[in-house]
Amino acid sequence: MDTVIKKLDVENIDKEVIKEAGDVIRRGGLVAFPTETVYGLGADGMDGAAAAKIYEAKGRPSDNPLILHISDISMLDDIVTEIPQTAKLLMDKFWPGPMTLIFKKKEQVPYGTTGGLNTVAVRFPSHKVALELIREAKTPIAAPSANTSGRPSPTEASHVIEDMNGRIDMILDGGQVGIGIESTIIDVTQEVPMILRPGYITRAMVSEVIGEVALDKVVVAKSTDELGTDYAPKAPGMKYRHYAPKAELTMFEGQLSKVIDKINVLASEAKELGKSVGIIATDETKDMYKVGKIVSIGSRKDEESIARGLYGILRDFDQMNVDVIYSETFYNDDLGQAIMNRLIKAAGYRIVDVDGE
Ligand code: TXA
Ligand code: MG
Repeated sequence: MDTVIKKLDVENIDKEVIKEAGDVIRRGGLVAFPTETVYGLGADGMDGAAAAKIYEAKGRPSDNPLILHISDISMLDDIVTEIPQTAKLLMDKFWPGPMTLIFKKKEQVPYGTTGGLNTVAVRFPSHKVALELIREAKTPIAAPSANTSGRPSPTEASHVIEDMNGRIDMILDGGQVGIGIESTIIDVTQEVPMILRPGYITRAMVSEVIGEVALDKVVVAKSTDELGTDYAPKAPGMKYRHYAPKAELTMFEGQLSKVIDKINVLASEAKELGKSVGIIATDETKDMYKVGKIVSIGSRKDEESIARGLYGILRDFDQMNVDVIYSETFYNDDLGQAIMNRLIKAAGYRIVDVDGE
């Protein structure tokens, strides 16, 4: 299939292009589009056959449900059976924006979209291109991140092209996204809402609005042992090894100066063995490394810059064909919790504590 790629000026969106993209969605096709978090791969969320094409294009396991994207609160009427009070408070505060809520689904939402679940994930994005596309399509758009399953999520159109060119109908290029990691997912079907996936909207921010909020333990686990073998994450997607670069990634935690020393030693050893090494450093530390392909993920003083840089850096290392990647760790709270959650999963839980050695 030929994939049509269209560049859009976000400040002056070409209505003709949106019309064309909306037609593709209404006809049951696939369109990748920018959101404020990551690029999404969209299809008509009320059409099970259209949603099935998403799974095929991504190579995504069919038990991993999709998020429905809406452009107006009234669209909830057709997809959810009730809106709990906690959800109303959160919607008032954070929508449109990088927050996904889990509701009980109405019958007409196909199981093909929800991975067979009786609940449905809904997000009201704030990105202008996403909103115009949903309005034009006149249907909730089911959209996972627009990457091949298991690869890092796309934060610019070139990433989507890498994974999806020839597999989908259309890609809307709206430049680099603003946030760089996926939305915070909150299950509001329970008495005490629970965060299933951390994101830009932190637990503290949620708690400020609704008081008590639980955290699925998969969010903070630093090892698979901590979870136990029979633990199933509440968001099915969280169980898969995600966001993974091709090279083996290892994280190093502990006192930063020791982390740098340790990475320097291992990088030299790996080089001796003829391996190509990538190092995930920060603006503050990048000059302290000696061998390897040293890339700064962002500034330690600006966690948002780290979130924005994260997936791009993992893809860049793929392009450079490195064999191993060594990474610093970050403050594991607030936005740092969302960053660390992605990195730990990308590392397949390989974390070395340099203080403990
Ligand atoms: O920021 C985002 O959320 C991006 C953009 C494109 O909106 N989308 C995204 O979708 O990250 P995806 O498919 O990559 O991740 C969706 C996650 C998966 O972990 C899935 O298991 C979970 O949401 N999910 C979807 N429906 C669910 C449900 N009914 N119950 C629990 N988890 C659900
Ligand atoms: Mg994803």
